[in-house]
Amino acid sequence: MDALQNPFSPGAGNPPPELAGRDDLLKQAEITLGRIKNGRYEQSLLLVGLRGVGKTVLLNRIRELAESQAYAVAMIEITETRTLPELLVPALRQILFKLDSMAGVSDKVKRGLRVLRSFISALKLKFADMEFGISIDPEKGTADSGDLEADLTQLFISLGEAAADRASAVAVIVDEMQYLSEKEMSALIMAIHAVSQRRLPLVLVGAGLPQLVGLAGRSKSYAERLFQYPRVDALSPEDAREALRGPVTRQSAAIEPDALDYLVQTTRGYPYFLQEWGYQAWNIAPASPIDIHAARRATGLSIKKLDESFFRVRFDRLTPREKEYMRALAHLGPGPHRSGDIAECLGVRVQSSAPLRSGLIRKGMIYSPAHGDTAFTVPLFDQFMLRTMPDWKPGR
Ligand SMILES: Nc1ncnc2c1ncn2[C@@H]1O[C@H](COP(=O)(O)OP(=O)(O)OP(=O)(O)O)[C@@H](O)[C@H]1O
Ligand SMILES: [Mg+2]
Repeated sequence: MDALQNPFSPGAGNPPPELAGRDDLLKQAEITLGRIKNGRYEQSLLLVGLRGVGKTVLLNRIRELAESQAYAVAMIEITETRTLPELLVPALRQILFKLDSMAGVSDKVKRGLRVLRSFISALKLKFADMEFGISIDPEKGTADSGDLEADLTQLFISLGEAAADRASAVAVIVDEMQYLSEKEMSALIMAIHAVSQRRLPLVLVGAGLPQLVGLAGRSKSYAERLFQYPRVDALSPEDAREALRGPVTRQSAAIEPDALDYLVQTTRGYPYFLQEWGYQAWNIAPASPIDIHAARRATGLSIKKLDESFFRVRFDRLTPREKEYMRALAHLGPGPHRSGDIAECLGVRVQSSAPLRSGLIRKGMIYSPAHGDTAFTVPLFDQFMLRTMPDWKPGR
């Protein structure tokens, strides 16, 4: 069928043609935003899910919802190499300037800018050349202790006060949150705690891999009271069908029921895979409707494509020993599996494989669904490992 009309959009963060199965979650986000803007209490939202389930797409949707409620939004993505303040400062500065440019002068906003300047000076960040305007001196004694927990808290409070003074609100949206250090996570939790106690209009919406829940709990024991952790999972068969059928019919094309069943089953309802298979099936089908033959042929092409991109980028970040660990895990099947069984499969003792396991959790490759259990964070990664290291044997 005409590739130009192909509605599907495989790729990290790409908005899908149909955001299937997420209505409840978006409703929840809308209510949270509305309540916090109006000075009411609500827990912040941390979306938790595996790779490719649609967390980033949801954060982008929530950003739009926030903007439609007149929020000023700071959206950042945590990486393993940059610090939280480095990522936050430019975004928060932009928000304060925006609040400052509104009609009339606000002392609270001016103070927010001064506090941001102090925050930067204390952390000795590389923002020396950042423009603030001549009237903005650092607010001495606020947010400049050099202790991230204390300083970020004061910064968020002054930001919340600035927003409240403008009858606005601030949303801090953080993707890949599992890459925060424990210290940064603590600081973020403390800062959110402080603004929520004061009922200031500042909300945190985050997303990350399942290890995020443990990280938050370890960083501050009261985290579980501050946050809700909505799960972002694979789509139900019904929603997965809709994710494929909806976009096809909107292009005045059709897909046969057995093709739909096959695609839903093969992709297990994982959003990234639905987009990939849908995309390939559309291109392969000679004409509408997309039938079972096109759907089956989409599998080979989709797997090839995923092996070169979605799976490959993850695999390439592993050391040789980490690859072996992942391969041993795959040997045991999709999982989860006991750490002891994986160690045995590797032919080593559990204690000696523990650092390897921790490193892989930090890299976001695996997580622990329950104490002593280990599972892949990337759906279907077990099969990829078997394909890519076919000759590996256990117990060497
Ligand atoms: N609800 C949905 N229905 C259909 N397709 C979706 C849905 N959500 C996301 N997708 C598609 O899934 C793919 C992955 O989405 P996204 O990048 O948001 O996932 P993610 O959870 O952020 O993954 P990662 O952990 O790798 O960053 C994209 O191609 C997107 O279009
Ligand atoms: Mg993402």
